[in-house]
Amino acid sequence: MLACVFLATPVLAQDAKAGRAKAQMCALCHGHNGIAVAVNAPNLAGENAAYIVSQLKAFRSGKRKHEQMSIIAAGLSDTEIANLARWYSVIQVVATPPVLD
Ligand code: HEC
Repeated sequence: MLACVFLATPVLAQDAKAGRAKAQMCALCHGHNGIAVAVNAPNLAGENAAYIVSQLKAFRSGKRKHEQMSIIAAGLSDTEIANLARWYSVIQVVATPPVLD
């Protein structure tokens, strides 16, 4: 539902499209749909855009350190970070907790 609200605005849909294109370089670890395929990488699908932006900027500035992410984020512009965050945040995720008893 949130995706519809965001994507209803043409400018934001453009951002998401640009983000989707850029996210090809992230797919090796975070998956094509933002569901991680590398065991040590977190899922990004449905994540809050502001959180994604803050973490990518923290990797870029060195405030948050990680062998791979620090290098990757170093090459991202503010616009690319915003677009990537838009893309991952509008991927819809369904959470189904297990029935335990
Ligand atoms: C080589 C594998 C790899 C690639 C490629 C990669 N990442 Fe990551 N990413 C990771 C790992 C591993 C972590 C977990 C870092 C940690 O443990 O602190 C991470 C963490 C993150 C986080 C923090 C998520 C959170 O929950 O705190 C974001 C946001 C992120 N990556 C975005 C991206 C984006 C956007 C790209 C592409 C431009 C990308 N990553 C490419 C491996 C990768």
